[in-house]
Amino acid sequence: MAAVSSYLDSDDDLPGFFARLGATIAELSHARRAAFWRLGPRGTLTLQPMPYGFAKDSPIFRMRHELGAAGLGEIERVVFEDQLDLVRGTAPALDAIWRKSGLGDVKNSIAAAWIAGERRIGAVVVYDSQNGFTASDLCVLRLAGMATGLVWQYKESEDELGHTAVRLEEAMSARRHLLNNIAAGGDEARRRFASALHDDSLQLLTGAELQLERIRTETNINNIVQLDQLRNTLRKVEDSLRRLLTNVSPEPLQLPSDMREAISERLESMRVRAGIEPHIDIRLSEEVPQAIQAIALKNISEALNNVEKHARATRVTVVAATGDGGLRVEVSDDGTGFVVAESARVPGHIGLVAMRERAQLAGGWCRVQSDPGTGTKVEFWVPRSL
Ligand SMILES: Nc1ncnc2c1ncn2[C@@H]1O[C@H](COP(=O)(O)OP(=O)(O)OP(=O)(O)O)[C@@H](O)[C@H]1O
Ligand SMILES: [Mg+2]
Repeated sequence: MAAVSSYLDSDDDLPGFFARLGATIAELSHARRAAFWRLGPRGTLTLQPMPYGFAKDSPIFRMRHELGAAGLGEIERVVFEDQLDLVRGTAPALDAIWRKSGLGDVKNSIAAAWIAGERRIGAVVVYDSQNGFTASDLCVLRLAGMATGLVWQYKESEDELGHTAVRLEEAMSARRHLLNNIAAGGDEARRRFASALHDDSLQLLTGAELQLERIRTETNINNIVQLDQLRNTLRKVEDSLRRLLTNVSPEPLQLPSDMREAISERLESMRVRAGIEPHIDIRLSEEVPQAIQAIALKNISEALNNVEKHARATRVTVVAATGDGGLRVEVSDDGTGFVVAESARVPGHIGLVAMRERAQLAGGWCRVQSDPGTGTKVEFWVPRSL
């Protein structure tokens, strides 16, 4: 048992572990050689590397046994029922099988089931006892079969855990990627649109204007008025496309060096434009990663847009503080309030939904509390690590 459980602590690879275990089992059962045979999904018994005590070119390495139904033959009786007939120091039916399949030098052998609870993993076999195997050797072998089964099960669950950990890490990195995209706020799409607008449409238009200019200088006087009209139209199209370009060009990703400053500026412009009196309480005692700040600012900005657009408020308060491993923010107003259940999913209005999704994707939460006549409070929390 100690030999088997030492696997749990050792850094052995699997063949190394079975070689060591084989040596120990052979010694305990007074055998010269030992091997583990594993039951495959199609009922074939194959050798588990590495058997103990066999020469490198032994026929054992080429052996396979197709098992029949339980109870059919001696190996089946071992694997499925852990039964064996021990006759004068050996299991004659087993010896016959080894000899027939090439191990002509087998002197004697016994076998036990390799099992984990109800699960049949295969068999453990020892070969060549000097004075023949005894009932107590068989007993040792059965214990070894059970102990190895437990280790096997442990190893399988460890592998499974390893795969799960890998899958989890992949999911986490996909989430981080998504989150960074969200933090960048569709800039990528805007950048693509802006460059298509600039590189394709505007250049084609400039080409058309140049062409027109040439035609104009070469043409007769009668058409000049129409060509001038056409030129003016084209210029207007170009102006409007350039205005569009200025609007959609992604702003240089402006992450505020100071969140407080960004929020204060936004509140001040609300005060000037809409006469809403701002209150601000920001306590950032720990560093907040830029991507998390960007998400928080997007949510704050949406909450403040809503106050300005819908609330008819006279006061608005923004409270933000680090704590609980994250950043917690509250935006409240003393405006009209609204029925949250009715407004949360109005087609085409996505501000509230987007706030919740951003917070949840970052691993946090977002709540909106409001009732007609009582003002509105938007609260969210996002963890500091992505
Ligand atoms: N602070 C607030 N005070 C009063 N009503 C609000 C407030 N915030 C949201 N609402 C109500 O909830 C509705 C949904 O808000 P939401 O932000 O999802 O959409 P929206 O602001 O109308 O459009 P957008 O998609 O541009 O944000 C609003 O139309 C408004 O009726
Ligand atoms: Mg909105």
